[in-house]
Amino acid sequence: MSRTAEPKSPLVIFDTTLRDGEQSPGASMTQDEKVRIAKMLEKMQVDVIEAGFAMASQGDFESVKAVAEAVKDSTICSLSRALDKDIERAAEALAPAEQGRIHTFIATSPIHMQYKLQMSPDQVVEQAVRAVTKARNLVADVEFSCEDAGRSELDFLCRIVEAAIQAGARTINIPDTVGYAIPDQFGDLIRQLIERVPNSDQAIFSVHCHNDLGLAVANSLAAVQQGARQVECTINGLGERAGNAALEEIVMAVRTRQDQLAVETRIDTRHIVPTSRLVSNVTGFAVQPNKAIVGKNAFAHESGIHQDGILKHRETYEIMSAEDVGWQTNAIVLGKHSGRNAFRARLEELGINFASEQELLEAFTLFKQLADKKHEIFDEDLQALVTDTRAAA
Ligand code: KIV
Ligand code: ZN
Repeated sequence: MSRTAEPKSPLVIFDTTLRDGEQSPGASMTQDEKVRIAKMLEKMQVDVIEAGFAMASQGDFESVKAVAEAVKDSTICSLSRALDKDIERAAEALAPAEQGRIHTFIATSPIHMQYKLQMSPDQVVEQAVRAVTKARNLVADVEFSCEDAGRSELDFLCRIVEAAIQAGARTINIPDTVGYAIPDQFGDLIRQLIERVPNSDQAIFSVHCHNDLGLAVANSLAAVQQGARQVECTINGLGERAGNAALEEIVMAVRTRQDQLAVETRIDTRHIVPTSRLVSNVTGFAVQPNKAIVGKNAFAHESGIHQDGILKHRETYEIMSAEDVGWQTNAIVLGKHSGRNAFRARLEELGINFASEQELLEAFTLFKQLADKKHEIFDEDLQALVTDTRAAA
C-alpha cells in the first residue's frame, strides 16, 4: 500500500446509475427511488449525478426535476440528443438545480453515422456544434459526447472535439459505447486527443466505458493515466448490456493505487456499501458474492493460510480496509479450508476457551468432519461441537 506525497489532480466522478444504469433491462426505478439514490450519491460526494434523459418520457423528465430539487451539493445532469427539443426539455427539467449540466451527444463512428444517423461526417459536426451552442445558451455547464468514440476515426474525433470546445463544451466525453476497447489502445486514444486537439486545455476530458469485454474499469483507468479527468460510472457497474465501469472499483483503485494514478476523488468511501445495497434492493439486481469491494465475500477469508495471515496482520491479504468502504468489518469465515488458529480465535470471540491443547484438537477434528459436509459453519454449530467434545471427554 504505497502512497506518494506528490500533489494529486482532482478526478471528477460522474455517476450515471440513474440514467445509463437504468437502461439495464429490468432496472427501471420510480421517481422516489431515484431521489433516494441521488441523496445517497450526494452524501457520498459524487461530483455529477446524471439523473436521467429528460426527453425520454414524462416520468424521466419528472425524475430529473425531482432530483434537481432535492440535491444541492452535486451537479445534476440530464442527457439529451443533439436536438433542439431534447436540449430545451433537459434545460426545463434542470431549472431547479443549483448546478445543472446538459449532456448532449451524437454518434461519431463510421458505422453509426452511415447506418443509424444516415448523415455525412460534415453534417454530424454541424449538428454537434449547433447542439452545444444551443445548450450553452441555456446553461453554463455543457458536456459533449462522441457516441461510439471507441470505434471512431481519430482524425474525425479531433475535428469534432475541437469544434465542440469552440462552441462552448467544457467537458468532452469519450465513450467506449460498445465496450470494444482494450486498455493500452484506449489510453492512447485519450492521450492523442489531448495532444492533438489545439484547444484541449479548455475542457476536461472524460471517459465512459462499457463492460462488454469486462474491461470497463481497466479502460477507464488507462484513460486516467493518459490525462482523462472525469470518469463516468455506475454503482455496482449497472448499465446497458454488460454494464458500465463500476464506481466503487474506480474510486477504490484510485485511492489504493495513488502511486500509479496520480489523481484523487472527493468520494466519502464509507457510503459505498450502503449505496450499493440500496441500488441492489431498488433494482432487484443482486450483487454477486465475489464482486470487488461490495460483494459479500470481498473481505471474507476462508482458507487457513489466509486466515492465519490476517490474524497476524491484516495487510497480508487485504489491500484496503473493509471499514473504509462501509462494511462493519472483514470476515473470517469458517469452512473446510480453515485452520486451527482461526477456529480458536472464533471460539474465543464466542467466549469459549479450551482447557487444553488436547481439547482444542478434538473439537477441531470434529469441526473438520462437519465442514466437509456443510457449506457454511454457523456459531451454533461451533457451540454444539464443543459441547459434544466435552461430553465425550
Ligand atoms: O454509452 C454511451 O455512448 C452513452 C452516451 C450517451 C454517453 O451512454
Ligand atoms: Zn453508456
